[in-house]
This record gives sequence, C-alpha cells and structure tokens, in this order.
Amino acid sequence: MWKLHPVHMPKKPGYALNNIRIMALVSGGGSNLQALLDAEKNGALEGGNISIVVSDRPGVYALERAQAAGVPALTAAPDKTISGKLRRQELSDRILDLAETYRIGLIVLAGFLSILAGEIIQRYSGKIINLHPSLLPKFGGDGMYGERVHRAVLEAGEKESGCTVHLVDAGTDTGPILLQRRVPVQPDDTPGSLAVRIHKQEHIAIVEAVKIMVQKLS
Ligand code: GAR
Repeated sequence: MWKLHPVHMPKKPGYALNNIRIMALVSGGGSNLQALLDAEKNGALEGGNISIVVSDRPGVYALERAQAAGVPALTAAPDKTISGKLRRQELSDRILDLAETYRIGLIVLAGFLSILAGEIIQRYSGKIINLHPSLLPKFGGDGMYGERVHRAVLEAGEKESGCTVHLVDAGTDTGPILLQRRVPVQPDDTPGSLAVRIHKQEHIAIVEAVKIMVQKLS
C-alpha cells in the first residue's frame, strides 16, 4: 500500500510556499523592520514577502533600511491642514489605496506611531497587526507610544514589562493579543535602558507574529 509523505520543499531565500505580500508601516529607526527583512532573507518568514514599506514621517532611517533591502519605500505623511479624527482617516485611506495597489495580504505596524482609522480597519479586518512596547492592556491607548510607555511603566513601579503583538481593531491597542514577551524591570532602569531590553524581545516577537499570520492567512 502506498503511503503519502508530506513533501518537504527546500527553503531557499526568496522561495515562497505561501506567498503573502506584506506592507510594513514605520515611523522611525526601523529596527523591527530590519528584524523582518533579515528573517525574510534567511527564509524564516514562511513565505511572507515584505513588498512595500510606508513611513508616516519623511527621512526616517527605516526608509533607508527598506531601500538597502531593495524594497519599495514611500512616505505617506499626515496632512496637517486636516484636523482631528479626519486627519487619521485621510492618512488611513491613502494607506488602504497603497495596500490594494500592491495587493497586500498582511499589514504590519512595525513601530508605526499614527493610528489607523476608517475603512482600512474593516477591509483588512484580521489582517493588520501592531507591535506595542508594553504588556497590553497595560500602558496602551492614545498618546502611549515609544519612550512615553516606558516612563509610565517606571512611574507606576511595575516589576515587569515587555511587548505585545495584537490584531488591530477600531480601538487603539485594544485588538486580540497574538503574543507577548516579558522582561524584568530593574530598580535602576531609565526609560532608555528599559526600551533597549524590550527592543530585543520585540525583534523576536514581530518575526514570530508575522510567521503565525502568514500561516493563518495562507
Ligand atoms: C518599538 O519599540 C515599537 O514597539 C514602538 O515604537 C518602537 C519602534 O522601534 N511602537 C509603538 O510605540 C506603537 N504604539 P523601531 O523603529 O526601532 O522598530
């Protein structure tokens, strides 16, 4: 009797069993983007392909990282002539247009400091993930980003912190949690030293989360 064995394909860089086109959204240095680019190059993204990088700030180093990896890199800055929630929505609509043009299957907020709103949330429901530098639901929400988060953690006297990757819904930092990684808070920590410890965990978490999503969406 014939027994069927699973076929194991070689995992060469660039070889994609499940090709999911990914848009990475960034705002700054892009060390998490770099972790993803390196993982893809090493064949570790399970067929995930970083197809475009979009920054909401011009001239950030994350854009250079994308260009160095040969990935199209664009800036889509918020329109300051528009006020309040409409500004978020207008930026989100431009990002949605880009996502559809580039046939994106997964949107990864890898250090992205704008808040997405409007149609993109429904159209890409279950296909947008966000990386946040705390153990959500603690220290999330509007205005909680980057070093502000670490300062709040220290002021609250927390004994541990970490990072969270979650699915994006219509709230800010409220969607279902995919995974978290924890670090201890040391008595002599500054926001900067805590950020460094958490960053190392983020680089692992974001790659893990993208792998999970690529498998789920394939
Ligand atoms: C990361 O720590 C990420 O968690 C945080 O911005 C940093 C970007 O670092 N994101 C947020 O605060 C979103 N609320 P990177 O540019 O080196 O990847």
